[in-house]
Parts: sequence; structure tokens; C-alpha cells
Amino acid sequence: KQTVRVGLMGFGTVGTGVVRIIQAHQEDLQKQTGLGIEISKILVQNAEKSRSIPSMEKIVTTDVHDILDDEGIDVVVEVIGGISQAKDYILAALDRGKHVVTANKDLMALHGGEILQKAEEKGCDVFYEASVAGGIPILRALVEGFSSDRITKMMGIVNGTTNYILSKMSQEGADYAEVLKEAQALGYAEADPTSDVEGFDAARKMAILATLGFRVPMKLEDVDVKGISRVSKEDIAYGKKLGYEVKLLGLARRDGEAIEVSVQPTMVAKSHPLASVNGVFNAVYVHGEAVGETMFYGPGAGELPTATAVVSDLVTVVKNMKLGVNGRGMVAPYKEKILKEDSQ
Ligand code: NDP
Ligand code: HSE
Repeated sequence: KQTVRVGLMGFGTVGTGVVRIIQAHQEDLQKQTGLGIEISKILVQNAEKSRSIPSMEKIVTTDVHDILDDEGIDVVVEVIGGISQAKDYILAALDRGKHVVTANKDLMALHGGEILQKAEEKGCDVFYEASVAGGIPILRALVEGFSSDRITKMMGIVNGTTNYILSKMSQEGADYAEVLKEAQALGYAEADPTSDVEGFDAARKMAILATLGFRVPMKLEDVDVKGISRVSKEDIAYGKKLGYEVKLLGLARRDGEAIEVSVQPTMVAKSHPLASVNGVFNAVYVHGEAVGETMFYGPGAGELPTATAVVSDLVTVVKNMKLGVNGRGMVAPYKEKILKEDSQ
């Protein structure tokens, strides 16, 4: 095989970024993997929509079977979002022996176990780095970089939309509804931005971080969640006067066997590094027993940062294909535990 063929599901913010990065870095990707990467088909909802990369319009389809039933397609990249259809498509792709890369935290937080079990049965890879903190390679760091340590705490800003809104409200006194519209126009917000502003998106990400970081399955309903929809300009101004910035903070803490995960608007002292994480940027503190404190910082949403994570996952899948080691991906040690939880 000279070229790996990819079925891209979704041609919105992230899907467009994926195409751009593969096109722009084609030669370098080939050098790293030893194989060409070609996007063969792109699944969309509306075939009539004009696309910002017109040369790809000829491979757009609205029929998922054009991807699922094409035996030449080796990898499916799922960036349509949502739960029910995305889950069906991913399971169907795995059933047909196709590897999967997804940015879908909603799906992975809720049904990660089932998806990883299917992947294991089929000897396929499933990677989902883009699902948490956009362009920051935090999942890899947790699973690979800290494998020798015992993580006790993770804390940070994991939703770009709400951080964008809170920053603009604080710095410019901007109106909540107006800035939310801006975040939507910039492609940061979820299709239904309730997920962002009510903290559900951050809760799903914290559940994924806790599962991988603590190596223990975390149930979404055990995450305590409060969003920012009731944070007023006055709250922010009052906090500032006292020397604080309001941030939507996710916290995952383990004390012995007890694990606590929460998301809530928090007054952060201006002297703390998290207080100066602004705009769409995310930051995650990871504390390990041996390593002590580390901090990861970078863009948490948006076309190219998110697509960087997706395409890097794709590169890992392709390298694994070249080596014949698919299905032994970075999440393998946790499959069993996640599964047990799913089946309860
Ligand atoms: P968009 O809404 O911009 O794009 C979604 C794309 O999927 C569109 O091309 C749409 O088609 C297509 N689509 C949606 N539903 C279906 C369906 N049922 N069948 C076929 N095609 C469908 O979403 P994003 O790119 O912003 O997000 C995609 C995923 O990535 C989500 O899971 C999101 O949570 C995740 N993510 C997003 C980030 C971001 O910054 N935006 C960051 C990290 C993760 P059409 O174009 O015809 O409407
Ligand atoms: N809506 C999400 C955010 C996208 O704003 O963080 C990135 O996961």
C-alpha cells in the first residue's frame, strides 16, 4: 500500500482544518509515515452548501455508505459531532475494520467504553486527542508522559468558548450574548452552545481527563457542573476590584480512593497563572506525586488548532498501519476498566 485513504465525516470548522493541514503538510506527513494520506470522501449534511475549499466539493457525499461500504477506505475521521449518529457511524466503521479518529468528547465521555471495546475486537485504533483542550496534546501527555507517576490532581480551563466570553466581559465590559455570538461565528462554540455555557462540554472533558489521568472510569453524572450563564458583568467587575478574574474551572482530585470532579465559575486571584489565560486559550495543571506540578497551555478550540490534534492522531494510525500494530493504541490499558463501568 502506498496511500492511506481517509473518509472524512464532517466538513465544518474542524473538518475544513483537517483538509487544510493534510494539504499543506502532505510531504512532511509522507516522510513521517512512509505512506501518502488521501481524503477520498467527505460526508456532509447539506450537499448544496458551498465549501471554503472548492476543490474538495467533488468528493462530498450525503450518504454515509459511500464511506462505510468503500473497502478502500482505511480510516474514518469523525468530526460531525453529536452522539447518536456519530456513534452508529463509528461503530459501523470499526465493524468494517476501519480505524477511527474523532474529536467528539460528548460521545467519548458517554460511550467511550463501548467504542473502545469494539475497536479492540476488531484490532482497530481509536484516537480522540482533539476531544479535550483542542490543540494541546493533553491526552497523550496523561497516558504516555505520566505513565510512571500517580496523578493526584488536574485543574484548569478546558472550554474555549466560555473563556473567550469571560475574557471579553472582563477586558472590554462586553455583553454576554454578543460575545457568545462572536464565539459561534469563530467556530469555537458547539452546535448547541448550551453545552459550552452550562458547563456540560467542560464536564465531559473533565470526565475524559479523570478517566485517563487517574486510570479509573469516571461517570459523567458524578461530575458536579455549574456553567457561566448566570455570571453577570457586575460579578466580573466586582471580582476585578477585589483582585480576581472569573474563570470556568474544571477540577479533578483524588484523595486515596475518593475521586471528585467538578466544573464551576471560580474567582481566580490575578497573581495565579490561570487568571491570565484569555480568549480561546485553555490551560491544564497536572499534579503528580513524583513530578509535582506541570502546566499545559494552548488554543482550546478553532479550526487549525483542533485539526492539528486530529491529524496528529491520523499520523499515529498511519504509522501503526505501517508497523502492523493497530489496536494497541494509547488507551489500551484503560479499556477494561472503562468497559466495566459502561456495562453497569
Ligand atoms: P461544525 O458544525 O462546524 O461541522 C459539522 C460538520 O458535520 C458539517 O460539515 C455538517 O454538514 C456535518 N454534519 C453534521 N451532522 C451530520 C450528519 N448527521 N450527517 C452528515 N454530516 C453531518 O462542527 P465542528 O467542526 O465545530 O465540530 C465537529 C466536532 O469536533 C464536534 O464533535 C465538536 O465537539 C468537536 N470539536 C470542535 C472544536 C471546535 O473548535 N469547533 C474543537 C474540539 C472539538 P454541513 O456542512 O452540510 O452542515
Ligand atoms: N466548544 C468547545 C470549546 C470546542 O469552546 O472549548 C472545543 O472542544
